[in-house]
Amino acid sequence: MPRTLAVLATEAGVRLITLQRPEALNALNTELLGELAAELDHAERDPDTRAVVITGSRKAFAAGADIKEMAERDLVGILNDPRVAHWQRIAAFSKPLIAAVNGFCLGGGCELAMHADILIAGEDARFGQPEINLGIMPGAGGTQRLLRAVGKSLAMQMVLTGEAIDARFAQRAGLVSEVTQPEFTVDRAIAIARVIAQKAPLAVRLAKEALLKAQDTDLASGLRFERHAFTVLAGTADRNEGIAAFQAKRRPEFTGQ
Ligand code: CAA
Repeated sequence: MPRTLAVLATEAGVRLITLQRPEALNALNTELLGELAAELDHAERDPDTRAVVITGSRKAFAAGADIKEMAERDLVGILNDPRVAHWQRIAAFSKPLIAAVNGFCLGGGCELAMHADILIAGEDARFGQPEINLGIMPGAGGTQRLLRAVGKSLAMQMVLTGEAIDARFAQRAGLVSEVTQPEFTVDRAIAIARVIAQKAPLAVRLAKEALLKAQDTDLASGLRFERHAFTVLAGTADRNEGIAAFQAKRRPEFTGQ
């Protein structure tokens, strides 16, 4: 049983993971990151899990890496940091991941939210990379993913000043897709996850992979990958089922084959 997370398998193939370190505003210590990586590994292997929603509390999605734990690490400790492997496992999750963000979403917390494929934010959410105030810089993908999400100028401003942006600003900048009232953030994220969970799993997986490719490859390579993935899906039973169901005017029954 994880100590720093609550995990709930809702109906319709959606798993809800809630970060639970209220005493530290869900600061991401080694234990929490390890438990989160293990939960995502489990969700990856579980054929009944089609999508995952990750959330925190109303006050904080997560206030960053655990600064108290960081204070105990010297350079050798940082070079051998077990959290690096946990982050890599989180980044490797191939099923749809949706972040439902309320309150503080800072530093490593913002970096974790940016691992999600879709970000839904409560009106009171605040996104920031305040590491510069500690004399350091983002170390879990913040410089790379934030720039890709919001562009160079705003990413530079956020990382170099350490100042946070609110949910509406984050939505206009492209970091967040929807803003809700805070009490509905998790419900809205689960509703989106349920819609995705009903789609053909192989198509969802390859579409996610192709969209992520667009962030780190040139157009010609991305188009090649898309064509390849599209062709692979042509050989699936779910493609036949989707087209047959359309023609028969019924709902498709996807099997993941
Ligand atoms: N690490 C460890 N503990 C944290 C924490 C963090 N990142 N953020 C908050 N806490 C703890 C506080 O120390 C406090 O605990 P105590 O009561 O035992 O002192 C408790 O959570 C509540 O926090 P506050 O009293 O500070 O709450 P607040 O409402 O006054 O302020 C806040 C909220 C503005 C988010 C403030 O807590 C804050 O600035 N936190 C740090 C944010 C930050 O700098 N994050 C970046 C971390 S570095 C990083 O993430 C590196 C990376 O990229 C991998």
